[in-house]
Amino acid sequence: PKPSSSVKLVLLGEAAVGKAPNMTQSSLVMRFVNNDFQDNKEPTIGAAFLTQKCTLPTRTIKFEIWDTAGQERFASLAPMYYRNAQAALVVYDITKPASLIKAQHWVAELQRQASPGIVIALVGNKLDLVASAGSDGEEVEGEDARGVPAAQARSYAEEEGLLFFETSAKTGERVAEVFTAIAGAIPET
Ligand code: GTP
Ligand code: MG
Repeated sequence: PKPSSSVKLVLLGEAAVGKAPNMTQSSLVMRFVNNDFQDNKEPTIGAAFLTQKCTLPTRTIKFEIWDTAGQERFASLAPMYYRNAQAALVVYDITKPASLIKAQHWVAELQRQASPGIVIALVGNKLDLVASAGSDGEEVEGEDARGVPAAQARSYAEEEGLLFFETSAKTGERVAEVFTAIAGAIPET
């Protein structure tokens, strides 16, 4: 049998960036766990717990996912959920620059207070709302709701040693890759 390990993963990010809509369903988490998406869900109250396996070539990781509530009134609960976490997914909305600022605060708090060696992924969600890049990487002319340039977030992530992805929980684009990359970055023990 392949070695299997459990990994505690915490989701952090401003309210409504698309982490997870309520206690039982989610946006990024729901896409990852159920491969589904539902619009207009309720904000998370407190936190929600889900598990999902991720199979790598040489091992299986069982994620124990704590999806936290982004509303400010729940911020003081976060340390309970990131304590002992081996991985964190810090989510922002690529149409909302303020949500990246909030994400950067979470990253700083994790680096200060969470377990040393925690694997942190910065995820810009709602990729479906922006115009796709052309084949040469240039932005296509036309309507674009993007508020955070990918290059800006990527260079911040590189400086801080974070994994970086842009995703859409709505279409599922790159959601599985985020969790696979986190699983791959967890050291074998
Ligand atoms: P809190 O639980 O309050 O922290 O919010 P949250 O980050 O969990 O956000 P949630 O998953 O509830 O999503 C907020 C809103 O954004 C909902 O209406 C979702 O349907 C929508 N949403 C989430 N992900 C996406 C996405 O990838 N694309 C688009 N277009 N909308 C999304
Ligand atoms: Mg939520």
